[in-house]
Amino acid sequence: MTREQAEKILKEHGQEHVLRGFDALDPEEQKGLLEQIGEICWEDIALAGVQTEIPLGELSPLGAVETDEIERRREEFEKTGYEAIRNGEVAALLLAGGMGTRLGLDRPKGELNVGVDRTLYLFECLIRNLQDVTQKAGKDIPLYIMTSEKNHDETVRFFEEQAYFGYPKDKVAFFVQEMAAAVDYQGRLLLEAPGRLATSPNGNGGWFSSLAKAGLLEDVHRRGVRWINIFAVDNVLQRICDPAFIGATILSGKVSGSKVVRKADPYEKMGVLCLEDGRPSVVEYYELSREMAETRDAQGNLLYAFGVILNYLFRVDRLEAIMEERLPVHVVEKKIPYLSEDGVLIKPQEPNGYKFETLVVDMIRMMDDNLPYEVVREKEFAPIKNLHGVDSLDSARELLKENGVPL
Ligand code: UTP
Repeated sequence: MTREQAEKILKEHGQEHVLRGFDALDPEEQKGLLEQIGEICWEDIALAGVQTEIPLGELSPLGAVETDEIERRREEFEKTGYEAIRNGEVAALLLAGGMGTRLGLDRPKGELNVGVDRTLYLFECLIRNLQDVTQKAGKDIPLYIMTSEKNHDETVRFFEEQAYFGYPKDKVAFFVQEMAAAVDYQGRLLLEAPGRLATSPNGNGGWFSSLAKAGLLEDVHRRGVRWINIFAVDNVLQRICDPAFIGATILSGKVSGSKVVRKADPYEKMGVLCLEDGRPSVVEYYELSREMAETRDAQGNLLYAFGVILNYLFRVDRLEAIMEERLPVHVVEKKIPYLSEDGVLIKPQEPNGYKFETLVVDMIRMMDDNLPYEVVREKEFAPIKNLHGVDSLDSARELLKENGVPL
């Protein structure tokens, strides 16, 4: 984009302030800023302060393959799952592009040490969990790792330094997710440094298009991968490429599966898997009416019973078919460091603007169908969002100990 083009487009959107100080930048910085301006999604920016909620369709409950059925059919599920793994049809994909702001680390979240008497990094826990399966299968599973511009170099450096925790390096590929410009409460673009717009990772919903943009779809096809299991960086207990989950999804004939846990209470803060206008969909706990949240069946179980834990299995051909469809954009309040008018970097203590994100939960609605697969929370769900309290390093350590992981 040329300076003239940038001036025109910024004027159209009332953002001329962005080029103030442009002449004082060196040519590289000028080029970088013009590139950033060219990448701005103005449709998103227009949502700042306007969009509150994305309208919901008609909701109805959706059951899951429950743990008792899983135990009954484990052998059958596992056989199918291991077969797919041994045929090289399954890949794992770690979502590690988030900022982990709640944890307040100055490093990628996966570098958190969850050990007590020994060092045990979050990344290492995940690799060990994956190795439980690869060792039993006698087959290595390709692992794609999504990072962001903000943590990519450090994440790769860390894996190199740790020798990939013993995982075969040729099976691991990193790719970088896209960034989105952030704005203040008035919808004005902010600079985070002279000649650099303040940006934030664009949410975990863009993982498949970022994988494709990085040229890795060719790798997916070359390896014959038909299923991708995506998972969050911060659930230390999660089972990755769980053969029974893979087998159950394949045998169901559905194009996707979601690991779910039974909600601890009607108002537990987690996305609930249900049907929306007859299609599988994840809705936020606060989007359910009181009646929906609290109604129970004859056995006393909640009707809207199952919450998602960010561990999904997707069939690659279906992902490719929906790649051009646009996910809804969520406008999220955020603390955005910015340069003041007189060039001082301000690090706000309270949210001062918006970031724009798409979320992987919204992909579920684009699938034709989805198999909710129940897992036991105490065995597979220990997310680390904060240092203390609910979903924290403290609670995850307790759960790791309960599951016999030496800390
Ligand atoms: P969270 O929603 O917990 O966000 O991410 P976060 O950025 O890690 O943490 P906070 O909210 O700033 O404290 C859930 C999963 O999605 C990934 C995260 O790395 C985590 O595995 N994620 C999130 C991305 O890969 N990219 C994003 O832009 C956001």
